[in-house]
Amino acid sequence: MTTPNTPSSTDTPIVKDQTIKDETLDYADIQQIIADDFAIMDKQVFGSLNSKVQLVMNVSQHVINAGGKRMRPLITLLCSRLCKDEQSKDAMHLAAITEMLHTATLVHDDVIDESGMRRGRPTANATWDNPTAVLVGDYLIARAFNLLVGFQSLPLLQLFSDGTCDIAEGEVLQLQHQHNPEATETDYMNIIDGKTSRLFMMATAGVAILQDKPEFMQPFSDFGQHFGNAFQIIDDVLDYSGDSEVMGKNLGDDLAEGKPTLPTIVALRLLKQSNAADYDKLRIAVQTGKVEDAASLIKLVQDSGALEYCRNRALEETRLAQQALAQLPDNEYRKGLWQLTQLASSRLA
Ligand code: IPE
Ligand code: IPE
Ligand code: MG
Ligand code: MG
Repeated sequence: MTTPNTPSSTDTPIVKDQTIKDETLDYADIQQIIADDFAIMDKQVFGSLNSKVQLVMNVSQHVINAGGKRMRPLITLLCSRLCKDEQSKDAMHLAAITEMLHTATLVHDDVIDESGMRRGRPTANATWDNPTAVLVGDYLIARAFNLLVGFQSLPLLQLFSDGTCDIAEGEVLQLQHQHNPEATETDYMNIIDGKTSRLFMMATAGVAILQDKPEFMQPFSDFGQHFGNAFQIIDDVLDYSGDSEVMGKNLGDDLAEGKPTLPTIVALRLLKQSNAADYDKLRIAVQTGKVEDAASLIKLVQDSGALEYCRNRALEETRLAQQALAQLPDNEYRKGLWQLTQLASSRLA
């Protein structure tokens, strides 16, 4: 996420935050706002693993040490400072827990998606095998809850246990729609609401509980939800248009798996009206997962106009996330969150 914060080519307006002027921050600049908190949290993510089984440690280390942006914990830390500008051990701890849960979902996701590359490295399933990856993913979820209990907060446990069910349901819903060319945009939104946005929401709403700010619960939740939606739509667009080196994972995977992401759903919708032959080509690829000429199918989606539509949807979600931020106190941490949403959408430019 080091792309410059250039304006998008689409016409959906982004809410202007007058406090920000035209300043551009990159990801490292945003981390810098809470550099000390971030460094402590980062150590905690791995330091919190204490399995007596060496294989669990090796696999967890492989994935966690590979890096990753640490986006969800960054959001938690910024939200915490936004509430109260002091270093919070609890917030750093919660941030590390959200990253642990996120890592678990990625380890499981790569098994389901049969992905070979993650964070620029071979995935856990490719390095070891599926059973090992599934079980270590389970361990990471169990350990995250183990650590959550330490807060002795039933509301926090409730938020995280409900949320973790939603994440799993989102992935199952996606599995149900695999190879389904009839999947709709609503189906897609239900899927990403669970598999992606829920964790963003936990990372933000959890802070309202921790910092005892019930009045921030709604704006934090809305921010997490809409930013999560934008983030996943952007990720799905980049699967058709990004750079695999920059992303640290393979492109074109979604189509090869017959996964009805928004670009595919919209391309099918548009082609159905305009080009019966191309519609059939794409429909059959989704149905069968047989993608012999991936490049021509990717081009077909690109030429259909679907990516433009998806970019606009992502910007709409970004705007809603920014509207939620506007309800929160105006300080440098809110500005950091706002910049994060800008930076995510700038990947589309
Ligand atoms: C990947 O999340 C999964 C999606 C929701 C698209 P990230 O892009 O935040 O992955 P890492 O943590 O930086 O590897
Ligand atoms: C994101 O799903 C993974 C989760 C949110 C659990 P994807 O399958 O779209 O993400 P990538 O592309 O593998 O990172
Ligand atoms: Mg995947
Ligand atoms: Mg997936």
